[in-house]
Amino acid sequence: MQLTDSQGRTINYLRLSVTDRCNMRCSYCMPAEGVARKRHADVLRYEELQLIAETAISLGIEKIRITGGEPLVRAGIVEFLSRLASIDGLCHLALTTNGLLLDKMAVDLYKAGVQRLNVSLDSLRPETFAAITRGGDLERVLAGLDAAERAGFPPPKINMVVMRGVNEAEILDFAELTRSRGNSVRFIEYMPVIKEDAWQRYCISGEEILQRIAAHHTLEHVCKGAFAGPSRDFRIRGAQGTLGIITAVSGHFCGECNRIRVTSTGQAKGCLFSDETTDLVPYLRPPDPAALTEAMKGIVMAKPKGHHITSNGYEHRNFTMAQIGG
Ligand code: GTP
Ligand code: 5AD
Ligand code: SF4
Repeated sequence: MQLTDSQGRTINYLRLSVTDRCNMRCSYCMPAEGVARKRHADVLRYEELQLIAETAISLGIEKIRITGGEPLVRAGIVEFLSRLASIDGLCHLALTTNGLLLDKMAVDLYKAGVQRLNVSLDSLRPETFAAITRGGDLERVLAGLDAAERAGFPPPKINMVVMRGVNEAEILDFAELTRSRGNSVRFIEYMPVIKEDAWQRYCISGEEILQRIAAHHTLEHVCKGAFAGPSRDFRIRGAQGTLGIITAVSGHFCGECNRIRVTSTGQAKGCLFSDETTDLVPYLRPPDPAALTEAMKGIVMAKPKGHHITSNGYEHRNFTMAQIGG
């Protein structure tokens, strides 16, 4: 079955957030004080998340990316992932993590059937890393990347949110990782997701990032795969990993968007930046698979054409990336 929205886009990718809690507090993601904890009862149980996944797959979703907050802080996550991995029709099970717990959990995640990992890593300098993450330990993330590969994963994709005056001096070091470690690296434009005015000052466009890399390296275009995300990818000649730019601000990729999202409290969103959410809880408590199916079809049909962020401005909504999962 193929799921198509009102704009003719094929929707085959669900981003499913399992928690909005995190063991870091990145400055671009949440305010210094963190986010208010959700009531335990408001967070979907694993059986409920599984029903959402099964319903999505029955409608035509083929790839699920588990997100957070930090998904690995939720107790029971490995067993949940292993149940998801065994659902017929799911071709790709991936997870985005900050990497802090990977050194301990990589083997179990691999055994559970997770196929790919994306790891957020914004600096290779311990002090800068600690400043951005408000206390994160770079060594543990690097150990986590190594542990993932030892466990059998392909080299994780690395997400670097590029911030002017903060980590911009490291763009070439991250590009070098595509050769030295073989990871693919995505340079992400700073998106305005927390209520703060500084984002325009921090945001460096994907084009500028590419120009800085191209001044030192010859870049080759890389074609997109069927389940590719928003990244536009290139390769330094001879490098094992690719490097990509995610231009959510300067160059919208909404026309090619293939995804929907569900938060850990059961709020479904057709677009990361839309105000429209559909509350799935009434179809889960008690479970009503037929009504849930209709609600999820509705989310796809109502998926907005695009978002309205430009480098000139954006009217802030009251959400954090940790609540939605990026
Ligand atoms: P794959 O292509 O499946 O590897 O994943 P991805 O790059 O879509 O996912 P990941 O969780 O690694 O996110 C990388 C960055 O892309 C994050 O900053 C996300 O917030 C951003 N991102 C992912 N999907 C969208 C989207 O639909 N719209 C926008 N604006 N940003 C997105
Ligand atoms: N702008 C761009 N990317 C962000 N992420 C979190 N907040 C932002 C933001 N304001 C990224 C994280 C993580 C992914 C899920 O979303 O770096 O890799
Ligand atoms: Fe946690 Fe990821 Fe947000 Fe950083 S970006 S605070 S690691 S959820």
